[in-house]
Amino acid sequence: MSGFFDLTGRAAVVTGAGRGIGRGIAEALAGAGARVLLAGRTEAILAETAAAIGPDAGIFRADVAVEADVVALRDAALARFGRIDILVNNAGINPIWRTIEKTSLADFRAILDVNLTGTFLCCKYLGAAMAAAGSGAIVNMSSVAGHVGLTRSVPYCASKGGVEMLTKALAVEWATRGVRVNCLAPGYVDTDLTSGLLHHETLSKPFLDHTPMGRFGAPGDIAGAALFLASDAAAYMTGHSLVVDGGWTAH
Ligand SMILES: NC(=O)c1ccc[n+]([C@@H]2O[C@H](COP(=O)([O-])OP(=O)(O)OC[C@H]3O[C@@H](n4cnc5c(N)ncnc54)[C@H](OP(=O)(O)O)[C@@H]3O)[C@@H](O)[C@H]2O)c1
Repeated sequence: MSGFFDLTGRAAVVTGAGRGIGRGIAEALAGAGARVLLAGRTEAILAETAAAIGPDAGIFRADVAVEADVVALRDAALARFGRIDILVNNAGINPIWRTIEKTSLADFRAILDVNLTGTFLCCKYLGAAMAAAGSGAIVNMSSVAGHVGLTRSVPYCASKGGVEMLTKALAVEWATRGVRVNCLAPGYVDTDLTSGLLHHETLSKPFLDHTPMGRFGAPGDIAGAALFLASDAAAYMTGHSLVVDGGWTAH
């Protein structure tokens, strides 16, 4: 690959890279020439993804909500690559679909801990290494749920709204330090996170009907946009949230 999208020699860390959207992004970055370190809590799926990508892919077990794990991930990335050029904060959860009355404080905190605090910790430790070196691109995984309100999803929407503003604030903070910070905001993508809903006989219909393109996304639909934001093609973009949703938020 040549030109704008060429990532040859770049060092990338992708969280939640063992499956779903994170795996699709890791494969796309590696396909553009990047060396990738795949992070997540489950070594077996990370190892499987790394084997599919090839010998340049490494794995590291880390829970992004645990500060010591994130510090260790940063140290492992720097030991492996000597630097970090690309950070994709993709790890995320949405384990409940409940009204606020039925949402416990523990539910709320658990979702915020991974989706928002995890993104904060990875930016704080891995992003800071990029800022210290004076270059890099961070892609934070938001959602259409960071742009519009979804029913029975208060913690998830709050977490992704937080990711949106964390991204803008950090983009401004690091704008003159060579580190671009952007968001990706996918619509409904068929992964483990959403399969219960998207494959449900009746519940899926309103979501599909609201999608102008008439289909749910696949991880590969999101990977190209992540590659764009991570690459020099997006050299003058920072603080942006790129919606990739088959037109879901267009009406
Ligand atoms: N699917 C959609 O429709 C959709 C739409 C908009 C945004 N998103 C966002 O896209 C991202 C990926 O979602 P997905 O659909 O690909 O979900 P997924 O298939 O469930 O994958 C989630 C990934 O995150 C990892 N993960 C979860 N908790 C973690 C933690 N505490 N520390 C480290 N890794 C953790 C998981 O691996 P382990 O469990 O092994 O750690 C897994 O690799 C999430 O941020 C999600 O909110 C998804």
